[in-house]
Formats: sequence, C-alpha cells, structure tokens
Amino acid sequence: MQLLMDFSYSTKTKNMKKEIEEILNAQIEKEGYSSHLYLAMASWADANGFAGTSAWLYTQAEEERTHMLKFVKYINERGGKATIGALQTPPAEFNSIKEIFKLVLEHEEMITNSINEIVAVCQQQKDFTTQNWVQWFVNEQIEEERNARTILDKLNLIGDGSLYLFDRDIMTLRGANAAANESAASNT
Ligand code: FEO
Repeated sequence: MQLLMDFSYSTKTKNMKKEIEEILNAQIEKEGYSSHLYLAMASWADANGFAGTSAWLYTQAEEERTHMLKFVKYINERGGKATIGALQTPPAEFNSIKEIFKLVLEHEEMITNSINEIVAVCQQQKDFTTQNWVQWFVNEQIEEERNARTILDKLNLIGDGSLYLFDRDIMTLRGANAAANESAASNT
C-alpha cells in the first residue's frame, strides 16, 4: 500500500518571478527578526519594572509577526513559495529605555530601506501587482518611524528625570499616532 503522499505536484500555477520571490522571502526573515528583537526588548523592560514600556514592545512584537505573516501568505497566494528560516538571536541586555528606542528607530529606518528596495525590484521586474500590494508597508513605515521618533523626543525632554510618567503613559502614544495618521490620510 502506498503510504507516502506525493507532494511533488502543485495545483498552483507558478506566476511569481524568482527575483520577487527572493526579495519577499528576505523580508519574511526581517519582519520575523523585528518581532524577535522587540520581544527581547519587551522582556528586558518587563524584567526591569517598566510595565508600560514592555506592553508597548510586546504589542509591537505581535504587530511585526502579523507583518511577517502578510508576506508569507502573499507569496504563497501569488504562486511563489514562502520559506521560513532560522532567526538571528537578538540582544538580551540593554543599557536604558532610551537606548532601546534609539535601536527601534534605527531598525525601522533599515526596514524602510528594505521595503523601498522591494518597490525598486517590483519596478525593475514590472510586477505592478506586488508593487501595489507592498504600498501598505510603505505607508506603515511612515507610522513606524514616526512612533519611534515621537517616543525619542519625549525621552529627550525627560533627560535624566524620572521615567515613571513616561512608562505609565507610553501606551497612549499608540492611539495618538494612529489618530494622527488617520487625520493625515483623510487630508490627502
Ligand atoms: Fe514591520 Fe516595524 O516593520
């Protein structure tokens, strides 16, 4: 009796170009690492008594996971093959909350460049469907960078002062930024 199933066939027509499949798969890894990195930061903040900051970072880690899933599902839906690889181990120790948000901003700027590179490859390959799809991430990166800059501005204002109020109120910034984005979008 034949017990092994034959998965060598596919019912899907392959219609994703190799160059597009490769760069989108690379982005799966980057979004996965983003989630990992923010989870490591959340855990550090949690263990050091910053309940609000850790909540912000745990939420951010979840968001990054949904970004990763969007790429996985899109690649498979368009006839490519999403690959899930190993992720780099993120740092476990941080010096301060300010250092964390400097790293968040640097990381998001790197992700923005990476998304822009996807747009460039879509244009080279004339894959306007993917270029249109990835536009959601182009817009998302505006918000991601703005969030990190807003938080860093607040931390600069506090200077060496107490982080008690900052930590208590940080989650409200998510709502404030989302509202600012909606308002900006409705004005365009
Ligand atoms: Fe998914 Fe923060 O970029």
